[in-house]
Amino acid sequence: MIEPMQTDNLERLQREFTETEKVIFSRRSVRLYRKEQVPEFMIRRILEAGRFAPSAGNAQPWKFIVLRDPEIIGGITDTVVGTCRMFSNMLDYRREGFSWLRPLAKLMIRLRHNELHPMPFTAVSLMAEGKLTLWHGAPTVIVILKDVRGVSSPDLDCGIAGQNMVIAAHSMGLGTCWVGFAKLALDLNPTWKKKLGISFPYKFANSLAIGWPQGNPDGMVARQTHAVEWFEDGGSKTIY
Ligand SMILES: Cc1cc2nc3c(=O)[nH]c(=O)nc-3n(C[C@H](O)[C@H](O)[C@H](O)COP(=O)(O)O)c2cc1C
Repeated sequence: MIEPMQTDNLERLQREFTETEKVIFSRRSVRLYRKEQVPEFMIRRILEAGRFAPSAGNAQPWKFIVLRDPEIIGGITDTVVGTCRMFSNMLDYRREGFSWLRPLAKLMIRLRHNELHPMPFTAVSLMAEGKLTLWHGAPTVIVILKDVRGVSSPDLDCGIAGQNMVIAAHSMGLGTCWVGFAKLALDLNPTWKKKLGISFPYKFANSLAIGWPQGNPDGMVARQTHAVEWFEDGGSKTIY
């Protein structure tokens, strides 16, 4: 870590990214993994990075489940694909001859806008057609459960813990991908919830695919700029 406030350190900091910044800026979601399993000690270290995350009221409202059994990973994937097929049959008005579904789909999108935002809606169809896999062939999955009794916003705390794990994994040369789609099995399917022991006060928050990346997908890409309003010394400016 850099000692703060020392002039030569600050000058160097202006010229160079820190190692942590390099990991943050170069991280990308990895959707192609090698088959070899990740050593257990690395997953344990990644879990530690999650455990050290800050949380509102220090409630630490999370529980992690590690999946490394191909049968379980494959079984959950099959359930999600089946559910996507059902949703797609019910709602995909873009198919030839199904335009009559459009009002119902639009109503559902309005009612469930977080789940059926146009992006996931497209992904539902891709998954139903087998063009997108759930955990992208990653040999390890970390499921993040939230303790619904947590202070303030357990989902936010779980997101922070998850991103700690993502950054730790990338710093070790691993690839990761957040996979919210697992909700279709781990929140909606009673059989999987029972099998994995997901019950009150825990609920699916999100999941992470983890493995050795195939190729070298990490790298900085251009990002959308969002205006930042900056108030200082009685004035204000907008920066990008
Ligand atoms: C909460 C969350 C859920 C996500 N769910 C999925 C998912 O189910 N499947 C998937 O392939 N990518 C998923 N992603 C990855 C995003 O698509 C990805 O982060 C985004 O397109 C930006 O690309 P980058 O991660 O390479 O920077 C998810 C990301 C987040 C943060």
